[in-house]
Amino acid sequence: MQSFDVWMKSTQAEMEAALLRHLPPADRVPARLHEAMQYAVLDGGKRVRPLLVHAAGALFDADAAELARAAAAVEMIHTYSLVHDDMPCMDDDALRRGKPTVHVKYDEACALLVGDALQSQAFEILSSGNLAAERQLAMVRLLAQASGSYGMCGGQAIDLASVGLQLSLEELEQMHRLKTGALLRASVLLGALAGKALNEDETAALDAYAAAIGLAFQVVDDVLDATADSATLGKTAGKDAADNKPTYVSILGLEQSRALAEKLRADAHRALQAFGDKAQRLREIADLIVQRKA
Ligand code: IPE
Ligand code: IPE
Ligand code: MG
Ligand code: MG
Ligand code: MG
Repeated sequence: MQSFDVWMKSTQAEMEAALLRHLPPADRVPARLHEAMQYAVLDGGKRVRPLLVHAAGALFDADAAELARAAAAVEMIHTYSLVHDDMPCMDDDALRRGKPTVHVKYDEACALLVGDALQSQAFEILSSGNLAAERQLAMVRLLAQASGSYGMCGGQAIDLASVGLQLSLEELEQMHRLKTGALLRASVLLGALAGKALNEDETAALDAYAAAIGLAFQVVDDVLDATADSATLGKTAGKDAADNKPTYVSILGLEQSRALAEKLRADAHRALQAFGDKAQRLREIADLIVQRKA
């Protein structure tokens, strides 16, 4: 088996090509919008969600083209969430993926439309696959639920309403599970569903894995915001404290936050036991999520 690093780099490279293929051409009218969509999506980001789609797909030998489609769809939803998250009405950030944010490089109306259009594009891609119609529809529904007010958007709403508040640990966990965990969970299940219709045990195991890495991802994001520098992160460090956001660091402190991330990594590994060697990449992604430096 390839090393994780080699697999990750080749999957990321394939992903870049798939994203370009699934985006409107930059010279097609309205060219400024299409150019800004490419600016937001291409050449940046860790592509953790696409990696999860591919790793989960490997459990059930899913077709590569269907995985590329699902991965592109979820990465477009994620990118849209970042473009909007950075706007002045939300976190007001000027740096993302090492580049000026879309509203800084273009303008606010353009950033709003980039997010809107990426969201629509995601569902167009996901609904254009060659899987059995019922399974394809389940995938579309899954991504819709993960993105909407019961998922990412709901989490963002709680995040914005929580500025300056002292949340309980339960409230903080709920916010993190929605704003970040929901799309990561969808990535895992979309990859698996591209392979086959899941039975109850498979769904429960993958759900337990996704819940653990989904929460761990945002715990680590909070830790890095407080400990890393902007050049390493490619986004403005120290922003959560500056904006008075409740985070795992503000509520648990650094040491306990790191310990929680480690515990969640162990939970994620445990959840995959029944899948044996086929889940190796999913285990390695759990490690990456907890050990990453950016
Ligand atoms: C950042 O996500 C926003 C969160 C959900 C915490 P990522 O850390 O995955 O950002 P990119 O895609 O690598 O830029
Ligand atoms: C954003 O969380 C999560 C989403 C975009 C849904 P953050 O606001 O912490 O993300 P960063 O730190 O700006 O990437
Ligand atoms: Mg935010
Ligand atoms: Mg932000
Ligand atoms: Mg953050």
